[in-house]
Amino acid sequence: DRSNLVVRLPRRPDNIGTPRNDLMEMQMKALILSGGKGTRLRPLTYTTAKQLVPVANKPILGYVLGHIQDAGIKDVGVIISPETGNEVRNYIGNGKQWGIKVTYILQAEPAGLAHAVKTARDFLGYDDFIMYLGDNLLHHGVKDAIKEFNRQSPDALIFLKEVDNPQQFGVAKLDRKGNVVKLIEKPAKPPSNLALVGVYIFTARIHDAIARIKPSFRGELEITDAIQKLISMGCKVKSEILSGWWLDTGKKDDLLQANTIVLDEYIKRQIKGNVDSRSQVNGRVTVEKGASVINSIVRGPVIIGKGSRIKDSFIGPFTSIGDNVTLLGSSVEHSVILNNAFLSGVERLEDSIVGKNTRVIKNSIRHKALRLMLGDDSTVEV
Ligand code: DAU
Repeated sequence: DRSNLVVRLPRRPDNIGTPRNDLMEMQMKALILSGGKGTRLRPLTYTTAKQLVPVANKPILGYVLGHIQDAGIKDVGVIISPETGNEVRNYIGNGKQWGIKVTYILQAEPAGLAHAVKTARDFLGYDDFIMYLGDNLLHHGVKDAIKEFNRQSPDALIFLKEVDNPQQFGVAKLDRKGNVVKLIEKPAKPPSNLALVGVYIFTARIHDAIARIKPSFRGELEITDAIQKLISMGCKVKSEILSGWWLDTGKKDDLLQANTIVLDEYIKRQIKGNVDSRSQVNGRVTVEKGASVINSIVRGPVIIGKGSRIKDSFIGPFTSIGDNVTLLGSSVEHSVILNNAFLSGVERLEDSIVGKNTRVIKNSIRHKALRLMLGDDSTVEV
């Protein structure tokens, strides 16, 4: 009886990869890009890798790893830079929390996304892999994306999303049938408003394409150019328009927007800390362990991190308060306050990001002068 003898044929008989065991389905690898410089998020990124900047109190990289875990991928390479590599390592550790095996790959300089793939060549071998930019956030994760890749069996699958500012992204031009005909990185005159999302699925053919490209105008080996090269090599490049939201958390406004969307989507009412009887906590508010809310009003969606103390204050919707933050007699809305910040007497803070260990204090009602000690690249609107 041969009925229970399952034989899976290799997905592509002409695959240039390692010989596939017919009886085993190949496991896709993941490559997470967590290097780079993070200049657009300064000053936060002077002390924190941009992939570790928190959104709703969880580092962006945490969402990325969660998506990799949901997709069932076990073998994960993480590109790190000399500057922030240790911090990224400390956060991910051995990957056990996400049920993955992690290989750290040091990229000596941020010479481009295709350069990162080149640097990871030994880790990737000839396997298919999903490349996920560590500062991108996707609503639906990557499970369906991988299913789509397995169904269509292309040499590369890219994801596109309509944006208002295509000049700031890689942009795709499609023909009437939806085939990708052209890809350009950060075009001055975009041929469409379809931006390349920071998730890509490749077969080993991408390495041949990367070997044939030159650095771009910004001096980087662009993955966009490598995919364009794949097309001109006659390889099958497929695209999908992404459903659900996608956020590239590169700049201050994007970070606030990411915080708003993620709080709106995921925050539950969960009061693990102390809320006294003089306080009102309305709607979807998470108060973590050891946090206290005293004589204050909190309107969700809001998260208040461990050990934070909110006294005689108001916290309005779409605000993330990190761990061990103190808020005294202050009012905050649609803002991100990072760990150990101290705010006292601040009448109304809106659309703001306050970095770690920062103090914002109103000294006296009569004294009108501002006294500032701001980090490099800070912005203050008074
Ligand atoms: O977010 C999507 C966009 O990402 C695409 O539309 C573009 O086509 C693509 O080039 C990329 O553009 P960015 O200019 O936003 O990429 P960025 O330099 O911010 O790098 C993205 C991530 O990759 C970031 O987490 C840092 C990491 N990285 C970047 C470079 C250049 C590396 O690990 N190594 C690198 O060499």
